[in-house]
Amino acid sequence: MRVRISQLKDRKQRREKFAMLTAYDATIGRLLERAGVDVLLVGDSVATAVLGYETTLPVTLEVMIHHTAAVMRGTERALVIADMPFLTYQVSPSEAVRNAGRLLKDGGAAAVKIEGGRSVTDVARRLVDVGIPVMGHLGVLPQSVNQQSGYRQRGGDAREADLIFTDALALQDAGVFALVLEAIPADLAAKLTAELAVPTIGIGAGPDCDGQVLVSSDLLGLHDRIPPFARRYANLSEVIVNAARAFVEDVREASSSRARTD
Ligand code: KIV
Repeated sequence: MRVRISQLKDRKQRREKFAMLTAYDATIGRLLERAGVDVLLVGDSVATAVLGYETTLPVTLEVMIHHTAAVMRGTERALVIADMPFLTYQVSPSEAVRNAGRLLKDGGAAAVKIEGGRSVTDVARRLVDVGIPVMGHLGVLPQSVNQQSGYRQRGGDAREADLIFTDALALQDAGVFALVLEAIPADLAAKLTAELAVPTIGIGAGPDCDGQVLVSSDLLGLHDRIPPFARRYANLSEVIVNAARAFVEDVREASSSRARTD
């Protein structure tokens, strides 16, 4: 049986922290679940982490459905949440319902995540009204990279901190079940975590959030560069390069039976 959305709130009340990681395919989803990860986010970061794009903006609904369905096939227990891609929810609440519905119906996700504050509360409310659980996302908003002029920390001055605080309360009021806080000061995240009834999940937002999330390719060390707040827990690029190099050498020298394919 999969982890349920209500269990995240129970954990907040019991002050039990939880871990969320991004997953984009069945194999990694299965391994992350085996490691005890409770919540898997099929992030639109698939664009930059896997598909070679510069930003998350080009990702389409079809791509997100494709990756979400793969993660669902590879897992049995994790709560799987799918990101709604740029422009699939901002145009109108009814379009958002249709698109979010496909992430649940065709992708199999249990919930969706949307970026933004008061500009998306009408969308969040409508989705929740029709039975689609919504996770919010404040702070750095990768889909607004052009508007925010990059990925610098948000909420560092009193005005921005106030805006984020008001947005968080508005999202909670609209019915979101949890809130990702990306790259905001630790003291602001701690204050939000204490104030909100719904769990906060931090990424570059200090240690006091109810949960923490990382992009799995950063955690696994698949890229040369990672955000300053991310932590590499493994260096899989080295493992992969060494394995492939060993294979290439075996083939070239025809010296190992392991390299034979017949
Ligand atoms: O798409 C993503 O990976 C995310 C995380 C940074 C939370 O939204």
